[in-house]
Amino acid sequence: MLGRFSTYLSNDIAIDLGTANTLVYIKGSGIVLNEPSVVAVDQKTKKVYAVGHDAKAMLGKTPDHIVAIRPMKDGVIADFEITEVMLREFIRKSQKKRFFIRPRIVISVPSGITEVERRAVIDSAQNAGAREVYLVAEPIAAAIGVGLPVDKPSGNMVIDIGGGTTEIAVIALNGIVTDISIRVGGDKMDEVIVQHIKKAYNLLIGDQTAEQVKMTIGSATNLGQEREMEIKGRDLVSGIPKTLRISSVEIREALAEPMSQIVAALKTALEQTPPELAADIVDRGIVMTGGGSKLGGIDVLLKEETNLPINVVEDPLTCVVLGTGKILGNLHVYERIIMKSTRL
Ligand SMILES: Nc1ncnc2c1ncn2[C@@H]1O[C@H](COP(=O)(O)OP(=O)(O)O)[C@@H](O)[C@H]1O
Ligand SMILES: [Mg+2]
Repeated sequence: MLGRFSTYLSNDIAIDLGTANTLVYIKGSGIVLNEPSVVAVDQKTKKVYAVGHDAKAMLGKTPDHIVAIRPMKDGVIADFEITEVMLREFIRKSQKKRFFIRPRIVISVPSGITEVERRAVIDSAQNAGAREVYLVAEPIAAAIGVGLPVDKPSGNMVIDIGGGTTEIAVIALNGIVTDISIRVGGDKMDEVIVQHIKKAYNLLIGDQTAEQVKMTIGSATNLGQEREMEIKGRDLVSGIPKTLRISSVEIREALAEPMSQIVAALKTALEQTPPELAADIVDRGIVMTGGGSKLGGIDVLLKEETNLPINVVEDPLTCVVLGTGKILGNLHVYERIIMKSTRL
């Protein structure tokens, strides 16, 4: 009776704590929050000015003493305190009603996370009000989110291209068999675009402009129709703002380096996969998730490089949080995939 009563009152939460975006899912309500993992902080007073969308809008535009921080930037927790502030704010925002029972929280984190970082996420969530905290590896959550049969003795391969990292995992029988995580993802793509524009035109553009370029005309392979767009930046010689037209051809060339790093990681993961499971992957292909999988032609490139079917999921930005939500709803079923932590 008490069990059912507490389920009814529960406000359990699933969180995809991404390097670029954090999503929150609540059973019965679906995805209730989807915001950039950014916090704007006053460097002098440590006062937090904004979190999420509002903070991202401030990136690169703040007065000197206010800095917009991405605490998860490189796929690890760069700043424990800021991560905690961010989690607390996102948890607060996603709970409309006040509950008597503190929530249980399942959080998906990069699979390469260290023990210290694991503890930091757990502590942050507890300090932010969680009663119990469970961590799951992001690629497993992604696989569950897209409905792959992760509990079967067959191999499921997922490549998740996020902001700070690309994670490749082979999952079978609720466990990770092969796991590779590299610190190359959407941020790196933005970075090489900034570099290219600087080198080729002496023009300095911001990260947000570079991201816009990537999303608008960026591609991993020649898709047959080249495109152009206008960008604005600051001329490094005259110091004056300037407008420039750039083409998809040069952006693809700039993106070639991060692309080859992703391809190399994928090949390494395939080499490390036991032959029996590799056979399953040949049959079923590789599932691609994460925001980076929306880059034009990246599926075509990976298919050409591996000769394997590549399946881009319908909504690559939400499958991790949806998978985390499924785990939250069936904690006993997924017991084996919960990351272990030494202190509980
Ligand atoms: N249409 C698109 N084309 C290329 N990259 C995209 C597109 N949409 C989003 N991205 C990139 O995806 C990344 C964020 O993906 P996400 O899966 O949310 O990352 P994380 O899980 O690390 O938070 C960002 O680098 C963003 O620029
Ligand atoms: Mg992610």
